[in-house]
Amino acid sequence: MITNYISTILRGGNPGDAVTVRGWIRSKREAKEFAFVDINDGSCMANIQVVVDRHVPNYDTIVKQINTGASIEVIGELVESPAKGQRFEVKASQVKIYGEADPETYPLQKKRHSFEFLREIGHLRSRTNTLSAVFRVRNACAAAIHQFFQERGFLWVHTPIISASDCEGAGEMFNVTTLNLKNVPLTPDSQIDYSQDFFGKAAYLTVSGQLEAEVMAMAFSNVYTFGPTFRAENSNTSRHLAEFWMIEPEMAFCDLREDMDLAETFLQYVFKYVMENCQADMEFFNERIDKSVLATAENIINNQFERLTYTNAIELLEKSGQKFEYPVSWGLDLQSEHERYLAEEVFKKPVILTDYPVEIKAFYMRLNDDGKTVAAMDILAPKIGEIIGGSQREERLDVLERRLLAQGLNPADYWWYLDLRRYGTVPHAGFGLGFERLVQFMTGMTNIRDVIPFPRAPLTVEF
Ligand code: 4AD
Ligand code: MG
Repeated sequence: MITNYISTILRGGNPGDAVTVRGWIRSKREAKEFAFVDINDGSCMANIQVVVDRHVPNYDTIVKQINTGASIEVIGELVESPAKGQRFEVKASQVKIYGEADPETYPLQKKRHSFEFLREIGHLRSRTNTLSAVFRVRNACAAAIHQFFQERGFLWVHTPIISASDCEGAGEMFNVTTLNLKNVPLTPDSQIDYSQDFFGKAAYLTVSGQLEAEVMAMAFSNVYTFGPTFRAENSNTSRHLAEFWMIEPEMAFCDLREDMDLAETFLQYVFKYVMENCQADMEFFNERIDKSVLATAENIINNQFERLTYTNAIELLEKSGQKFEYPVSWGLDLQSEHERYLAEEVFKKPVILTDYPVEIKAFYMRLNDDGKTVAAMDILAPKIGEIIGGSQREERLDVLERRLLAQGLNPADYWWYLDLRRYGTVPHAGFGLGFERLVQFMTGMTNIRDVIPFPRAPLTVEF
């Protein structure tokens, strides 16, 4: 008896098997003496079709209750399906309804809904084909990421969410306050004193686990973080969230070239894993969301990324004759239109840009011998722009202290970070991959809010 997922039944079942299926009804078609229902349990893209006929006890009541959205258990027999496009169907002998769904009010009908509409019903949208495929691929990416690092002996470290330091020095942090809410109702017009800080000290939601990952790399050699990070940038774009997940490997005894090699191998590994483990979902995205999804995956897996310096990229952009909205010149940061132009139009594959001007990058990046650039690397992906940001870190105490001061930061606040350079410093490097941008890149989904189950962005906090 298989009492398992629909994916298991469709993959490993045989005609004549007794099966139990549990899930949510996607659609129903009624004839005079029987009804067909399609059931989905989230285990795969495919529904399983169930034939409910008059032999089923309480047929008349059941048939009224088996509407789209209802939750159901079917006990029956697996039979070969005469219908096209499916191998099996289930001939029901017993049907139990767990919860009905009123067809008049259930918001998900058997038609294509816009992603804007689905965002308004975030609590139900995972029951659609597209969103459920996205979250299966997201899960596979997470599994691949852990497997990649674990196979290579990296230690998964849990860095804090509440933090006192601004890793990126960009001042885009959410404040954490200690509130005494006893006897204060939590309504928009309550008189709450928001000025208190975290038990008497300033604290923020972390923008990156990198600095703490560096601490751990100075003891374990190779580590990675995988957790939520927060940015208080009020950007309403299709690539920014206020809460997103980041993967940050950090390697001791490692330089920028080895850092880039690892990032490239890493992305190729994750794409390969997802192509092998989520084939039907990837085919669905290719057919319904973006016709280049499969070709992009093959391109990533089989080709080396392009590598060039920031300086060469600027020359290329200046000579391109393209009309960009934002200016291009040495010393200015690249905008996503420039990044996308390089990856999509010029090289038609991911591009690793290196050696950015010191003024536009964070204090921790290692100063190059020219004194003007740092050992930074960004990976730019077609359609997305920056997907990874990384660097070799400044391991020299005196240079790091000067960099902190030059950026208006107080070295005393970073005493523990400087200690890592005082005691047993080593060359080291790492990078940060934006998890949602990876899932977007892989699935072809255009809006980042549709690749995370509960998006946090300006004006989108529903739960
Ligand atoms: O380039 P970022 O800011 O780099 C860091 O935080 C470094 N500490 C990483 C490191 O070297 N360990 O962010 C890294 C990546 C970006 O390339 C982007 O993919 C993603 O995080 N990211 C965002 N994703 C969604 N919404 C946002 N607001 C994001 N900001 C950055
Ligand atoms: Mg960056």
